[in-house]
Parts: sequence; structure tokens; C-alpha cells
Amino acid sequence: MSIDTATGKEAPADLSSARVKEIFSAIAKKYERFNAVSSFGAYKAWLAGMMRQAPIGPDDDVLDIAGGTGDVAFSVARAKRPAHIQCTDLVSEMLDVARMHYADGKACGVPVDFEVVDAQDIPYADKSYDAITMAYGIRNMPERDRALGEMFRVLKPGGSLVCLEFSTPPNAVWRALYGFYLKHLIPFWGGLITGDREGFVYLARSIKAFPDQQGLAAMMEKAGFEDVIWKNYTGGIAAVHVARKPAR
Ligand SMILES: C[S@@+](CC[C@H](N)C(=O)[O-])C[C@H]1O[C@@H](n2cnc3c(N)ncnc32)[C@H](O)[C@@H]1O
Repeated sequence: MSIDTATGKEAPADLSSARVKEIFSAIAKKYERFNAVSSFGAYKAWLAGMMRQAPIGPDDDVLDIAGGTGDVAFSVARAKRPAHIQCTDLVSEMLDVARMHYADGKACGVPVDFEVVDAQDIPYADKSYDAITMAYGIRNMPERDRALGEMFRVLKPGGSLVCLEFSTPPNAVWRALYGFYLKHLIPFWGGLITGDREGFVYLARSIKAFPDQQGLAAMMEKAGFEDVIWKNYTGGIAAVHVARKPAR
């Protein structure tokens, strides 16, 4: 099934794919500022949490999905020093910025390759990666089951998917405050800082329509993953899920 990622309702995949390409190709150069605003400045702490949770070793070949301007890939490079990272994204303009950062030495000597890849149709062989990272990616994909199935397919048995995503605060009061902030303040504030109000309206709607922690874990299990665990950040505004492909 494919959905409209802004509402969660069934819709042709083209609708969300075209919108996401339009949004991210337009904001690629200001994305890092957008990111800081959209995660309320907390993204660095959430990324650090993601690195702490990520079971990645020095011999690993890592696939970064929806890698954007390379923040996750470069963090993995610095924190884990794996053998190689394949940084992929649907939008070439985002990867152009990542390539620029790579040329500036942001991967600290770890080899990183960049390729335009739709996560819903990954052009790599079965069982080819030791670990997959993905931050703020799955929420933007209209065919999420298909994307998770593709990630499962290209992971080696025993490998892990590490996924950072906006989520749902379990505490009702915090959830209500956050809901108000998201709906009323984020489009205004984000628009003011980056000049792209529409991108923030989409962001707020897509977060509201996205499954909660249990829902995302269930989707991962449906794709075949096991031992799915997650850790909440900032009271559940974000969560990092770690899911393992069975070793057998
Ligand atoms: C919010 S950005 C996150 C970028 C990066 N992971 C980070 O943490 O800064 C979302 C990214 O998802 C990418 N994206 C959306 N749909 C995708 C798809 N179907 N396949 C691959 N990437 C996709 C967008 O192009 C965009 O770069």
C-alpha cells in the first residue's frame, strides 16, 4: 500500500515522492539550518544517542539511507570508523552538499561513496551490508513496508537497522504541548528562519500522521526484523529504533 506521507491516508506513491523531491531539492543548501530548526536544535543530541545505540564495528560496510547532506554518515565515520559507508538519498542536490562536506574532510579518512537511491527500490545485492542507518527518512516514504523490506533484503543476516525518527511523546501533557508547538509555532518560526514555510507545514503534518514508537516497531517486525528496541529522546519527540535481521 502507498500513502500520502502528509496525512497517512492511502494515495498514489507519486504524490509524496514528487513533493519530497520538490521540498528537498529546493532546500538542499539551507537544509542544515532547516534541520537545526525542525528538531528544535536537539538534533545533535539525538544523533549522538543514535551513535551510542548503533551496533557498528570497524570492519563493517554501512548503508546510510535518506542520507541527505551526510550528517549521519559523517557521524558514523567519526564515532565508529567503519571500513566503508555508502551514503544514499533520493535527491541529488542533497548529496551534492554531502559530497562537498566529504571533500572538506568531514569523514575523517573513512571512505564514503554517494549515490542517488530510492529506498523503496534499492539497487544493491541481497545481504550486502552489515548495518543500515536512517535518520528522518522513513516518514517521508509513501511505500514504507516496501522500503523496510528492501532494507531487510540488503542487510546481512545478523545485521542491524538503526532508525532515528520523530515520534510520539507517551506523556499526555507533553504530547499536547508538543502538538500545539508543531501545529502553530513550527511553520511560523521555521518559515521565518529559513524562508520555507511550506516545508515546515509539511514537516508538522508528516510527524502528526506518522506511527508512534510501537507502530514503527510493528512495521519493522512485519518486514522480518526481530529484537526491535527503541529509546525515546526529549520525552519521545524523537526515538531511535534498533532492529536486527535474524542471524540464521
Ligand atoms: C529530513 S532529511 C534527512 C537527511 C539526513 N538523514 C539527516 O539526518 O540530516 C530527509 C531525506 O530523506 C530523503 N528521502 C525522502 N524520500 C526518500 C526515498 N524514497 N529514498 C531515499 N531518500 C529519501 C530526502 O531526499 C531527504 O534528503
